Amino acid sequence: MRINKFLAEKGVASRRHADDMIAAGRVQINGKVATLGENVEETDEVLIDGVLLSREEKKEEYYIMNKPKGVICTVSDDRGRKTVMDLLPESVGRVFPVGRLDYETEGLLILTNDGDLAFRLTHPTSEIPKTYLVRIEGTMTEKDLNPIRSGVELDGVLTKKCKAHIVETDKAYTKVHITITEGRNRQVRRMFESIGRSVAFLKRVSIGRLKLTGLDRGEVRPLTEQEIAYLKGL
Ligand code: URA
Repeated sequence: MRINKFLAEKGVASRRHADDMIAAGRVQINGKVATLGENVEETDEVLIDGVLLSREEKKEEYYIMNKPKGVICTVSDDRGRKTVMDLLPESVGRVFPVGRLDYETEGLLILTNDGDLAFRLTHPTSEIPKTYLVRIEGTMTEKDLNPIRSGVELDGVLTKKCKAHIVETDKAYTKVHITITEGRNRQVRRMFESIGRSVAFLKRVSIGRLKLTGLDRGEVRPLTEQEIAYLKGL
């Protein structure tokens, strides 16, 4: 099995993050620094940052967090900023965030050590709908949202069709619900920037039918069996 898949299955990191760890020389197989794409077997001795990875079966864990802004969505930050890991209770095992929310964005974040689920939820072909509450400075009309609905160009590539509607508006601000099925870098912020509007507040409120309801900012709870089954079926 490829080393990145192996690390994901062991709950060390998502496959993409595992590749970063390998590229950074943090992973060793049988005493040698691992290379990207290398294969590994269950009987091999794998070390992460010099620590032996247990050969035992891992227990899968799944959490939902209401990520506050001002917290970074990684397992560790080289600039010493607060990460989502700092918000987890001590009882939580080694999990990692599924996908990213910007430093300034808040809302629904899933954390797990189930590398396969993380891979499927974040893979572009999965097209899982994610809904965001956006607050824009100034007033807006439904018509202003049309370019966003039909697709705007980001880095030379059109965004996919999406749903958007105004929840509330007055002279000072507009609140919009937008549901996108992609996960491009800073996508929602850049979609609004492309029509000349800047996002003052951004919060992810749902992933598919999984909602953030009932969790205060910074709170975390385990997902229920039903929620886990639902996400696995997406
Ligand atoms: N879109 C953004 O602009 N930021 C996020 O964090 C998520 C979606």
